[in-house]
This record gives sequence, structure tokens and C-alpha cells, in this order.
Amino acid sequence: MANVAIIGGQWGDEGKGKVVDYLSEFSDATVRYAGGNNAGHTVVVNETKTILHLIPSGVLHPGKTCIIGNGVVIDPKVLLEEMALLRKMGVALGSERFFISDRAHLIMPYHRRIDAAREKAKKTRLGTTGRGIGPAYEDKMARCGFRVSDLLDADRFEERLKSVLREKNAYLRYVLREPGFRYREILEEYLRYGRRLKPYVTDVSRLLHRLMAQRKQILFEGAQGTLLDIDHGTYPYVTSSNAGVGGVLSGCGVGPSCIDEIVGVVKAYTTRVGGGPFPTELRDGPGEYLQREGMEYGATTGRPRRCGWFDAVAARYSVRVNGMTQLALTKLDILTGLDPLKICVGYRIKKKIVSEMPPEHWVLEQAEPVYKSVPGWKQDIREARSLEELPAGAQAYVKTLEDLMGIPFGFVSVGPRRNQSIVLRNPFDGCNRR
Ligand code: IMP
Repeated sequence: MANVAIIGGQWGDEGKGKVVDYLSEFSDATVRYAGGNNAGHTVVVNETKTILHLIPSGVLHPGKTCIIGNGVVIDPKVLLEEMALLRKMGVALGSERFFISDRAHLIMPYHRRIDAAREKAKKTRLGTTGRGIGPAYEDKMARCGFRVSDLLDADRFEERLKSVLREKNAYLRYVLREPGFRYREILEEYLRYGRRLKPYVTDVSRLLHRLMAQRKQILFEGAQGTLLDIDHGTYPYVTSSNAGVGGVLSGCGVGPSCIDEIVGVVKAYTTRVGGGPFPTELRDGPGEYLQREGMEYGATTGRPRRCGWFDAVAARYSVRVNGMTQLALTKLDILTGLDPLKICVGYRIKKKIVSEMPPEHWVLEQAEPVYKSVPGWKQDIREARSLEELPAGAQAYVKTLEDLMGIPFGFVSVGPRRNQSIVLRNPFDGCNRR
């Protein structure tokens, strides 16, 4: 038996939803450990596209346990809407299979307003998703946040809300020049959410350890990507949580020895939504092609994603900071028809060639990519189910990326559907930890 973590190796939107959906078949439980409804995980099952923002993508496998860990920030309104949507689709979501951490922090209405107002006021925008993610994590660190369990004690919640809201309203009114909130509105709304969520609330760390003691396999589902990680990403153009493997430990209450395989998901090219440095960005020609063919629009905000060539410097950095043990390559089919293909193998910064990510965003902004050109292919690859069935150009592309990153691909996705996949190494196989 094994437990596997899925981590984004780029700036998010790597196609983790599909990889998680595939691997959920072999796991007993899927857990989201970080981020919030800034994420949008797209899963296509039987031609039906489902975009999930909070509930783990594993939910589409009947009977599997789905868990939201304490590292996630939950907008309860969005969560309840997503639960209702899944039920409408016929997905059973009872309290025997769906769990929410009692320690997860809540996104409050003032978080959303602060997020939007700050973005509006900034000269250089981060381009946040506007969902209140940053302000909610700030309050968590400032020790003035509200957690799911707070909703279950009405008197205490009321008392703290009054005092926290006094400060938030002053900040909104006098610093951001925005209207404040009446505490009663929030109180009633949030206590109502608490009553509806109560059946699902649990101590997730204890639940996970109980499942592991029963020899169940756990899949930890990442959101965003390593380059958006608050510590390891392109700060300050990042999200406000640990999207990398560190987030699994703090975001679920498990130790490092509980994770057997760390699967990094990388797209065959690079995309980014929002502001920030992006050395291999292509503003025309192949960039437009990638955007159109890859349907590169944000799953949460609908914003067009910036597109560029595969950046092996950035992806190798992600492999290192997460200790990834294998990779999943997605959207290889989108490169069909582009010739030649380019892979960034270094950055030229002030006439020097470097092979590591600089920590400063303004240095990365000056980086000129050093490319290796490789031949493309023209054949449709969506029906390939083994590497041998891929044209020579596609095989060579996969091999080149593998050599540059130093760890093997276990999974290559050649189309959006579940079965449009080449499985080389299932991370749940061959691990026998206990
Ligand atoms: P926030 O997470 O809404 O605060 O946004 C901070 C940055 O992270 C912005 O550039 C967003 O576009 C980016 N971001 C947040 N979530 C995702 C995601 O799921 N995919 C891609 N980018 C994301």
C-alpha cells in the first residue's frame, strides 16, 4: 500500500485534475491540502466536463472518501454550492464519504472585499482570483481568522466576530475606502452555513491516521503549483499558501513518512494566469496557437492564460524543492503541429547563463530563455496508449524532458478524456511501506 501526493510543477493549471481523477481509482481517499476556491480542477468523464474548486476531484469515483484538510481556506457559500451541484449531477456526497477539517480556516465576506479592493488600488496588480484567498491566509497567520469549528459555537462566534469586524470595517472604510459590513448579516449567514456543514466536520488528521491504520491508500491532491507557492514561488506573484509538498504535512496533519511517492504534474508547455515573471512567455504565433488549441482559459476566472514554451529550469526547480519522485506530463497532444518545439534549458541574465531560478522577481523578469530546439510532429497522438505508439518527435520530446528533469514520467496525457493516457508507472504499485 502507498500514499501519493500530487503537486503542480509549474504555475498551476498543469492538468492535476485529470491525473488525480485517474489515480483516484487506485486510492481509497483523496484529500485537498491547500488553497481554496482559487483553484479550478477540470475533469472530463464521458464527455461531461466538471470543474471543481474545493471538493477533491476524486469525488467523481463513487464510494471513495473525499476530504478537505485544515490547510484549505473554505468559502462556505462556494462549498455548499459545489456540494449541491454534485448532488444534482447524481454524485452521492453523504457524511460517510465526505469530510471537512474542523481546523480549516474560513473565507469571510470581508476577505473577498479586501482582495478585490486591493487589486483595484494597486499599480502593479498581482492578478489574484479575487476570491479572498490572500486576506484569509493573512488572518490565519495573524491569529484572527475563523475556523470551521468556530461556526459550531454560536456564542463564541458572535463575540469574536464583533471584535474582528470592528478592525476589518475600519480598514475597509478608512484605508481602502470601501463600505464595511454589519456583523448581524455575517453572523446569521455563517451560523446557517455552520449548521449545514456540521455533519461533515471532523478532525482530519485523526481520520487520515485511522484510514492508514486500516491500510487504506491516500491521495493528497495539490492545488495551484510550486511556482505559486508562498515560500518557493515567484514571490510576491504567488498565492498565499504552500502549494508544494510542505503544504501536505501542515495542511492535513500527517508526517513526511506518510508520503511514499510525490508525483509532479507538468504541462508539455507552460502557462500562467495573473501577473508576474514568465521567461518563456510567447506573445504571438506559437503562444496564440497554444492558447487556442489548449483552450487556455482560467477554470476559475475565465481569464486567458499566458502561454509559452516548456521551462525546464523552472520545472527542475520544482522537482528539487518538492523531492518529486516521478512526473506526469499533460496536454502533449496540444503540441501536435508545432515545429520546431523549444525547451528552455537556461536563462541568460545580464550576459551570464544560469541554470537555477533566481529568487528575485525583477531578476527573473530580465531573464532571456536559452532554448534547445527539437523537431515536432504532425500526427494525431490522441489514440496512443504506449510511448511506442507516439511518433518519433513526440517520443524524443518526452525523453528530452525526462533527461532534463532527472526523474521519470509515470503518466503521459494525450487528450482530455480519462482513457487518453499513457500509463508508464502507477505510483500506487510497487510501494510496500508497511
Ligand atoms: P490568489 O490565489 O487568488 O491570491 O491569486 C494569486 C496568484 O495566483 C494570481 O496570479 C492567480 O492568478 C494565481 N492563481 C491562484 N490560483 C490559481 C490556480 O488554481 N491556477 C493558476 N493560477 C492560480
